[in-house]
Amino acid sequence: MVCLGNICRSPLAEGIMQNKIEAHGLNWEVDSSGTGAYHAGELPDPRSIKVAKENNIDITNQRARQFQKDDFKNFDLILTMDATNFQNVKKLAANSEEVSKIQMIMNFVTPGMNQVVPDPYYGNDGFGNVFEMLDIACERIIEKHK
Ligand code: 4NP
Repeated sequence: MVCLGNICRSPLAEGIMQNKIEAHGLNWEVDSSGTGAYHAGELPDPRSIKVAKENNIDITNQRARQFQKDDFKNFDLILTMDATNFQNVKKLAANSEEVSKIQMIMNFVTPGMNQVVPDPYYGNDGFGNVFEMLDIACERIIEKHK
């Protein structure tokens, strides 16, 4: 799960997916990162922690880290929140097989539409919407790949 800062959107995506992995008894690993390193080492944004907690998901075990090239080797799917994240991870791909692992996460809900999970960092009311979008997307990913 990849966004820009790894403090707002992708920590929610990781937490939601981890919760569903456990609920479905799947042997999957999920992690998250940001294309930027500005917030590396930090806890998720308090507003993401709050909306996760309201949905009985604890994301306070997470710490932000930057996306790295090895993530292509360690994961089968690289799911980005928006088109900028997509382009930035694509630049780090070593070959076409790695490029083919990258998808915009909302394309699991609205295929081919390249819908973005909007960056909620500068507002205060976007976090519930982000949670709902990611909850549906994670459910679709599980249905498709489990
Ligand atoms: P995220 O949100 O990419 O969903 O974690 C952001 C977090 C921090 C910044 C931008 C977006 N920032 O500019 O510091």
